[in-house]
Amino acid sequence: MGFFEGVREDIAAIFERDPAATSTIAVLLCYPGLHARIAHRINHRLWEHKFKLLARWISQVMRFFTGIEIHPGAVLGRRVFIDHGMGVVIGETAIVGDDVTLYQGVTLGGTGKEKGKRHPTLLNGVFVGNNANILGNITVGENSRVGAGSVVLRDVPPNSTVVGVPAHIIYQDGKRVMITDPKDIKDPLSDVIIALAGEVRELKERLGFSEPASVRGDTSPQHLRAVRTLAEEDGERDQYRFTQRPFDPEYTEIASGI
Ligand SMILES: CC(C)(COP(=O)(O)OP(=O)(O)OC[C@H]1O[C@@H](n2cnc3c(N)ncnc32)[C@H](O)[C@@H]1OP(=O)(O)O)[C@@H](O)C(=O)NCCC(=O)NCCS
Repeated sequence: MGFFEGVREDIAAIFERDPAATSTIAVLLCYPGLHARIAHRINHRLWEHKFKLLARWISQVMRFFTGIEIHPGAVLGRRVFIDHGMGVVIGETAIVGDDVTLYQGVTLGGTGKEKGKRHPTLLNGVFVGNNANILGNITVGENSRVGAGSVVLRDVPPNSTVVGVPAHIIYQDGKRVMITDPKDIKDPLSDVIIALAGEVRELKERLGFSEPASVRGDTSPQHLRAVRTLAEEDGERDQYRFTQRPFDPEYTEIASGI
């Protein structure tokens, strides 16, 4: 694809994805993401033709003007849109597919532990919210979304939404994913939560409290990691609320005496 055709596609992508884009001249003048993309097209070619220092220098100059640092070695697909842009960092071995949208503060970086291909690969149609960090040689699947402020450390399957630190899946193929087992979130505090959950379960058993259907009985990960539609989830919450036994006054007495 020719240089100007690529830039024309980038401008069209901005009109498509940003309702604030009013005219072509405004897009050409006011979108640092577009400026960084144009510079990167030139820079990447310089890098491939072994003008590495010149390419690095131009990338640093562009960072000064746009706030966006794209390493000349990074591979960017067609119609990539970097909105606002300030603070975006795209590492040397990152690969960004077609129709990807990145907001300000996004880092496609390394973990500092890997060599060679050490930055992420974002497949086509990925959306990354502001200040999200995607770290290491991992892959974010097609059409997946990364929530603002998330830290992604593991592969993300296609058509999924991930949020949190560290990121976990909340939607997959249009369905809500409920994490019911703390082991599914690789957080340093998971062990504490698991221990607390065990204690709560034991206390409930001692007090004779009923438990929701998803927790009672089968404790296999397959059973606990239930995938439900939002409607089903709401229905279950209501059911749980209404079937919950009223609080035993005897225990209220004990609690207020503590
Ligand atoms: C991740 C995102 C795409 C999900 O949108 P969505 O599909 O509409 O998701 P919902 O609003 O239904 O949220 C589902 C759950 O995830 C939580 N959630 C959503 N985004 C989150 C985030 N970034 N971090 C942590 N939790 C988040 C919600 O609180 C909700 O939890 P709950 O069901 O326990 O209440 C969106 O929240 C997001 O982060 N967009 C980025 C926007 C952005 O960067 N804008 C920049 C403008 S300058």
